[in-house]
Amino acid sequence: AEALRIGIAGLGTVGASVVGCMTDKEAELTRQCGRTMALTAVSARDRTRDRGIELGNAQWFDDPVELARSAEIDVFVELIGGDSGAAYDAVKAALEAGRHVVTANKALLSKHGVALAAIAEEKGVLLNYEAAVAGGIPVIKTMREALAGNEVSRVFGIMNGTANYILTRMEEEGLSFEDCLAEAQRLGYAEADPTFDIEGHDTAHKLSILTSLAFGCKISADDIYMEGISNISQADIRAASELGYRIKLLGVAVKTDSGIEQRVHPTMVPTHSVIAQVHGVTNAVAIETDVLGELLLSGPGAGGNATASAVIGDMADIAKSRPGFQHGPVFGRPAAKLKPYKRAR
Ligand code: HSE
Repeated sequence: AEALRIGIAGLGTVGASVVGCMTDKEAELTRQCGRTMALTAVSARDRTRDRGIELGNAQWFDDPVELARSAEIDVFVELIGGDSGAAYDAVKAALEAGRHVVTANKALLSKHGVALAAIAEEKGVLLNYEAAVAGGIPVIKTMREALAGNEVSRVFGIMNGTANYILTRMEEEGLSFEDCLAEAQRLGYAEADPTFDIEGHDTAHKLSILTSLAFGCKISADDIYMEGISNISQADIRAASELGYRIKLLGVAVKTDSGIEQRVHPTMVPTHSVIAQVHGVTNAVAIETDVLGELLLSGPGAGGNATASAVIGDMADIAKSRPGFQHGPVFGRPAAKLKPYKRAR
C-alpha cells in the first residue's frame, strides 16, 4: 500500500515527541498498519530551533494553513493549540481540502468541534482527537467504539495532569502551590497559559467533549459550573486529610431529571477510594453505563510522550481506514438536554 503522508503543524513538546516516536517506531508502525507513515511536511513558528528530532526530507511551511491545504499530505496533524487563530484556520482548511485531521486541541474542539465535525462528515474524512482528552488514556475510542449500545448515566474524573500533579505534591511533600506549578511547567505538562490548568478551563474543555459523546448532546463548556484549585491551601489539604479525604479537581457530567449537569470543582474524595489513589500527572476517567456497569480508565494524562501515544494511535487508525469510513458521529448532536449553568452576576 502507498505511504500515508503526514503533515504536522506545531513542534512544541507534543509535536517533537510525535516526530521522535514516528522515527523510533517506524518499523513497528508499518507492520501494524500495513503501510508506512511518512512525515512529508511540517510547520512551526521558529525554523531555526534545535528540537533534537529528525525531520528528514519533510517540507517546511511557515504558514500552517498553507500546509493544511497542501496536496502533498493525506493527514493534517494539528498540535498548535488555542481555540482560534492559526489552529482553527488550519484545521478548517484541511477538512475543507478533504484531508483527514488529527488534533490534540481540546480548547478548539470545545468551541468549534461540532462545526468542524460537520465538515469532516460532509467530506468523508476522519477527525480524530484521542489526545484532546486525558492525554494518553484511550477514552475517546472507548466511548465512541467500545461502548456501543451502552447508555451512560455518569462520567467523571481527573482530567488535568497539571492540577493533579500540584495537589499530589502539595499533599505528599508539603510544597507550595507556586513551586508545584513551576515544576509541572518545567516537565511540559502545563498549558501555554497555566491559568487554564489551575482554574478549571482545561478540565471544562475536556469534560464538554466527553459529555457530548456520553449523552449525545451538544458541546457546551459555557454550561459548566467551574471552580479551580488556585485557592487551595496547605491548611485545606491537611484538614481534608485529618477527616480521611483527599482533594481532587474533578470534572463531572451526570444525568438528572432536569437535564445533563456538568461541573468542575475541587472535591473531597475518601482517601481509600480508587480516585484518591490517582497520583501526580496521572488522569482517571470513570464511566457508568447500563450494560457494562462501572469502568475506570487511568493513565498518563499530560506530557510529550503520553500525548504523542494518543496522536500516533489516531494516525494509525487513519492508516488502516477505508476511504469514506466514519466511526459514527464525531460528536453528539443536540438530542439530550443540557442543564444550563447560570452564573451569579
Ligand atoms: N495541560 C494539560 C494537563 C495537558 O495538564 O492535563 C494535557 O491536556
